[in-house]
Amino acid sequence: MAGPMTLDTTGNKAPPAGQAGTPMAARAAGPDAARTGSDGAAVSARRLSLVYQTADQPVHALQDVDIDIRPGDFVSLIGPSGCGKTTLLRVIADLEQPTGGSITVAGRTPDEARRDRAYGYVFQAPALMPWRTVERNVMLPLELARRPKAERQAIVREKLALVGLDGFARKYPWQLSGGMQQRASIARALSFAPELLLMDEPFGALDEITRDHLNLALNALWRQTGLTCVFVTHSIAEAVFLSTRIIVMSPRPGKILEEITCDLPAERTLEMRESAEFQRVAALVRAGLAKGHSYD
Ligand SMILES: Nc1ncnc2c1ncn2[C@@H]1O[C@H](COP(=O)(O)OP(=O)(O)OP(=O)(O)O)[C@@H](O)[C@H]1O
Ligand SMILES: [Mg+2]
Repeated sequence: MAGPMTLDTTGNKAPPAGQAGTPMAARAAGPDAARTGSDGAAVSARRLSLVYQTADQPVHALQDVDIDIRPGDFVSLIGPSGCGKTTLLRVIADLEQPTGGSITVAGRTPDEARRDRAYGYVFQAPALMPWRTVERNVMLPLELARRPKAERQAIVREKLALVGLDGFARKYPWQLSGGMQQRASIARALSFAPELLLMDEPFGALDEITRDHLNLALNALWRQTGLTCVFVTHSIAEAVFLSTRIIVMSPRPGKILEEITCDLPAERTLEMRESAEFQRVAALVRAGLAKGHSYD
């Protein structure tokens, strides 16, 4: 990859407004606490269910899902294909309406959270516009919100630095590697300085080496900003590498089978994957998945 290897190179750059240098634990109790629920949860769901109505028969995508995600958590959702991971992310983002149960996002309804731009969403495919440069892609949500030009430019500069793309603002997406395109889409998702970043298998299509770099970069970004992250993956190693907590889901209808805490130090290194603690957590995730017969 021609681009910067990790986000550590941007360690001296300013993080998003309102989050500068604030330790994660302090964010929960600090001014941002007002933006979380009364119980302090970034995302809280009770008995959440979703049934898709289709032409032939209803599809039970989620059933009785209870989750509590704390501010500053990095939570991975892992489970077999079709178990409802994307559906759960889309419910948090107000892109789908649950058919049962309740959910709050930063203490608000998902609809209010969406209007308040409380979250950013990163899709599996970067979905960048090929006729816009990287900076103009990242700027698009700010243009649509009619933010003044000088403010837009300052925000885009800051976000591109945060994802290690400072030198690539004037390139077109097709001039970037797949990993750099995903960095650009993460920068775009951060344009309104959200408190919550939702990511749906953002690195699923990348080769292993690029994925390792992006995992390191995302870990650095999470540490720098104090963001709450909800991350969907099929990879046990990626889930353990990135997360403070891993939620294992069952085959459809998606239920929560296990919640596994990962107490590795906040700063993750590739070498940690060889450690006994990493292997222990990975084995717990593997056992959780096996409970749902997900390897059938
Ligand atoms: N709009 C829809 N209408 C009907 N059924 C849907 C719709 N979206 C998803 N489904 C079904 O709901 C179930 C859960 O889908 P979802 O996309 O949430 O799974 P997933 O865990 O993200 O899978 P993958 O790992 O393959 O991305 C699947 O059976 C899927 O076919
Ligand atoms: Mg999916």
